[in-house]
Amino acid sequence: MNLKGRHLLTLFDYTPEEIIYFLDLGDELKEEFNKHGGHPNRKPLKKSLGMMFEKTSTRTRVSFETGIWELGGQPLFLSFRDTQLVGTGESTSDTSQVLSRYLGGIMARVYKHKTLTDLAEHSSIPIINGLCDLYHPCQILADLQTIREHKGKLKGLKLVYVGDGNNVAQSLMIGCTKMGMDVTIVCPDDYKPDSEITEKVAKIAEKMGTKLEITKDVPAGVKDADVIYTDTWISMGDEAQKEIRLKAFKEYTVDKKLMSYAKNDAIFLHCLPAHRGYEVTDEVIDSKQSVVFDEAENRKHSQKAVMLALMRD
Ligand code: CP
Ligand code: NVA
Repeated sequence: MNLKGRHLLTLFDYTPEEIIYFLDLGDELKEEFNKHGGHPNRKPLKKSLGMMFEKTSTRTRVSFETGIWELGGQPLFLSFRDTQLVGTGESTSDTSQVLSRYLGGIMARVYKHKTLTDLAEHSSIPIINGLCDLYHPCQILADLQTIREHKGKLKGLKLVYVGDGNNVAQSLMIGCTKMGMDVTIVCPDDYKPDSEITEKVAKIAEKMGTKLEITKDVPAGVKDADVIYTDTWISMGDEAQKEIRLKAFKEYTVDKKLMSYAKNDAIFLHCLPAHRGYEVTDEVIDSKQSVVFDEAENRKHSQKAVMLALMRD
């Protein structure tokens, strides 16, 4: 499959077959990495990846940085604060055209999705979304890789996301629906996913023959879940609403009782960082059902697949 030169801004832009291609390649790269004790012989991507961060990160930064190095390329960490974008107000379009002359690809974590579309519009190299206000596509590729590893399949599974209808929830809706999974978002009325995105996903669900449900009813929503997923109630940028959010979500903690409504063999995922005692309790995140560290590891393998597919010669 040829995905060379494409941007990855949202999974809306990728067909189910293309998503499966990323997942299969991610599995292959993971196997190769493990077989060679962390020192793969093959160095198929001798290119530089610019990693632009407008917000903080642990997993995204480290997994992309080590991932590009393992593929044979090199990472360049570019904090927004230290570039001319912020320093002298250089335009996104000029920045994008200049960086295209030096790099093989750009991964950017930004506040507004528009910053990514602006970068992409003026770039001759792939732009990869490392999280924005609307989406977190790389996270979802790692999530799908992890679910498939633990469940042996994706199609026909029911994933229930509990909590804030945020960037992670929105990308999960897209990615899981495209994989033929049923998706339920359990959230308070005021924190539903974006309505335009929901409408678009509902159309995909209809085409794929899957269910998309949004409910505030925790036991009914979680019933029969194969996968339970949650994320922070206070995303980066939402800090000013901390107090009202803590109140709004207080019935939505993923605890042992909530897990008991799901199937007995349900697995638990969280993109991390977790806020233990808030969106999830210690006994759930540290339980046998939790696969959060496999999920974090898979960020690197699935992103290596993305970089290789989009940035290859
Ligand atoms: N899940 C995730 O993207 O983690 P970071 O914010 O640490 O990159
Ligand atoms: N929804 C969270 C995800 C962090 C990885 C945020 O945007 O801050």
